[in-house]
Amino acid sequence: VATPGETAAMRRAIALAARGIGATSPNPVVGCVIVDAAGAVVGEGFHERAGGPHAEIVALRDAGTRARGATAVVSLEPCNHTGRTPPCSRALVEAGVVRVVVAVRDPYRRAAGGAETLLDSGVEVEVGVLAAEAERVNEAWLTYVRRGRPFVTWKLGASLDGRVAAADGSSRWVTGAASRADAHRLRAESDAVLVGSGTALADDPHLAVRKAQVRRAQPLRVVVDTEARLPPGARVLDDAAPTLVVVAEDADAADLDKAGAQLVRLPRAPAGPGLDLAALLAELHDREVVSVLLEGGPTLAGSFLAEGLVDRVVAYVAPLLVGGGGLPALAGSGAASIDAALRLRIDDITRTGPDVRITARPATWTAAADEA
Ligand SMILES: NC(=O)c1ccc[n+]([C@@H]2O[C@H](COP(=O)([O-])OP(=O)(O)OC[C@H]3O[C@@H](n4cnc5c(N)ncnc54)[C@H](OP(=O)(O)O)[C@@H]3O)[C@@H](O)[C@H]2O)c1
Repeated sequence: VATPGETAAMRRAIALAARGIGATSPNPVVGCVIVDAAGAVVGEGFHERAGGPHAEIVALRDAGTRARGATAVVSLEPCNHTGRTPPCSRALVEAGVVRVVVAVRDPYRRAAGGAETLLDSGVEVEVGVLAAEAERVNEAWLTYVRRGRPFVTWKLGASLDGRVAAADGSSRWVTGAASRADAHRLRAESDAVLVGSGTALADDPHLAVRKAQVRRAQPLRVVVDTEARLPPGARVLDDAAPTLVVVAEDADAADLDKAGAQLVRLPRAPAGPGLDLAALLAELHDREVVSVLLEGGPTLAGSFLAEGLVDRVVAYVAPLLVGGGGLPALAGSGAASIDAALRLRIDDITRTGPDVRITARPATWTAAADEA
């Protein structure tokens, strides 16, 4: 079992890991704290970006010779493979670490086995400390590896009566400036931002992140546009960030093609409107997109929900009543009865200026479900 000091160090390691959110794809976020035999923290670090040193290596460098005889506390099992960097399991052994405390085992087959390598070298290993918290901080990457698809966050800005636009389609000022700034941060933490053709045509959104907020790179902008209706002059097609226009295999996309848009062709949905969303997410997974921010609108979001492809909801709710003519946040047939509605668990409520930001996840959601 972990000592109270080790548990505290794990809490710190998870907080360090969180600093990498949005910058490490396609790698996980990881934090590491080195504690000496007397219980003093002698080193710490986190994984900052893919290609950069892993958390353990940063922490070992920080600790120097004080790592000898110490305990390494890591939010994810140390890797066991030589990728862009040599295996962390070996580095820990060579530094003289005698005990390793891990929160979550590495589900990525090529990297797994770090715990066994450590044990074989006579290092004590403890697994499962603060596992739920560590799963949460890495929920996007764990979903990406275990389910073979990106983690999907549906973001919406709604009135108190659940409308995302008024009768005339105007939606830009549903929520206030603080909510919109916060939503930009969410975008910056995502690898891709997704909208349907309806939103692209109605609002002509730009979908890029403000320069100062860019983490590793601009997120990939994705427009789901079955019939290739996006006009070649759309703002989303400028060169501020890369953009994919996803169209049907048989769509006539000559205009977009001529304009130099990057086109991806996918099968149509087996049932219902538009394109096959499983194929869309598989395509994004192939492009190493770990996290997707679904920015709407109601038709596309309704399809994601119907297919069980929403992992997290971030709703900015404004103190505003639009009324009957307004556009509901979700289209589609929805639940036939309350029993069939998707139950969420609210994980956070934060005020954003005059609005409220609610973060919720399906009540049954864990990154571990449907393990591939
Ligand atoms: N306040 C907010 O948070 C917010 C956010 C976004 C949008 N909005 C508002 O929402 C309105 C647009 O709503 P919308 O529902 O028309 O737009 P949408 O959901 O962005 O786009 C819907 C379109 O996407 C295409 N699509 C492709 N594959 C699909 C699939 N598998 N499932 C569903 N759709 C698929 C379909 O058109 P094709 O078949 O032609 O491709 C479909 O009609 C605008 O007024 C906008 O301002 C508000």
